[in-house]
Amino acid sequence: MEMMIRARRNRRSGAIRGLVRETRLSVADLIFPMFFHEDGEDVEIASMPGCKRWSVSGLLGEVKEVYALGIRAVVLFPKIAEELKSGDGAECANDLGLVPGMIREIKGACPGMCVITDVALDPYSSDGHDGLVVRDGMGGLRILNDETVDVLCEQALCHARAGADIVAPSDMMDGRVGAIRVALDDAGFEEVGIMAYTAKYASAFYGPFRGALDSAPKEGDKQTYQMDPGNVREAVRELMLDEEEGADIVMVKPAGPYLDVIARLRDETTLPIAAYQVSGEYLMIKSACAGGWLDEQAVVMESLLGIKRAGADMILTYFAKEVAIWLRQEAG
Ligand code: PBG
Repeated sequence: MEMMIRARRNRRSGAIRGLVRETRLSVADLIFPMFFHEDGEDVEIASMPGCKRWSVSGLLGEVKEVYALGIRAVVLFPKIAEELKSGDGAECANDLGLVPGMIREIKGACPGMCVITDVALDPYSSDGHDGLVVRDGMGGLRILNDETVDVLCEQALCHARAGADIVAPSDMMDGRVGAIRVALDDAGFEEVGIMAYTAKYASAFYGPFRGALDSAPKEGDKQTYQMDPGNVREAVRELMLDEEEGADIVMVKPAGPYLDVIARLRDETTLPIAAYQVSGEYLMIKSACAGGWLDEQAVVMESLLGIKRAGADMILTYFAKEVAIWLRQEAG
């Protein structure tokens, strides 16, 4: 056949494919979400095989290990003891609580690790909601916005005092990014960043995470604050708000089923974009690979590359440690 152009020429060898590759995954892109509790034991999380809920000392050991592998950012998710949960979630701003203690430990043992904290009330709320709950008198629940934002500001300040580098409000209340920015600045924490959960969808893919922390809503669902899965223009609207309110990084969550949202926000903003490959995405890959039907390393790498290609600068993933190991092996 006579052909001037043959696309396959650029795929001919590993060396050439390396030259023309448009997207690469690097250990510097990874953020490792970690679970912990105040018990002295590290326990396997039933809903997330391969993930542990760490003791404080266990988590510290794991942090040092992943740091040595090149991971430079973690995000902390506590399982709060049932007796510390309450209607007002007050434990979230206790300077002597589990999260501030963990931040200080990590910063002491591994100062180069960027510590990101989740700001939302669900682990602390006896109702299992991200905000304060009132009954509307007709048997329904209402999540209070402005009152919740006041508590979230206290929570963010508590994390900042303990040494958090970045706070990540995952609650989806209106106006919380701006309010947290002002609260941090007024207290002298101008350098503490905000990673906003900008487009966080009301997704069924969070199930295994709620199992890990025992934080599922006791009643109702999160559809009055998290976004409707059908919407993408609304994600742009949330982006505009978070930008105006001073977000340093914006996030799309979940990642895999929302690649179009990542791509859309990439077109609309100059801010860095984070994407969260959530617990349900993790579990789907894990269970398919446990059955031997998929090749775990290949599928994980491809799923993350897809998220980056869509436009994410960084990825929160429960596979972070394995990926760091695989990237090392590939380089070596
Ligand atoms: C809580 C929070 C959730 C996740 C991160 N922060 C759960 C939820 O909103 O119900 C989910 C993460 C995952 O599924 O991996 N504010």
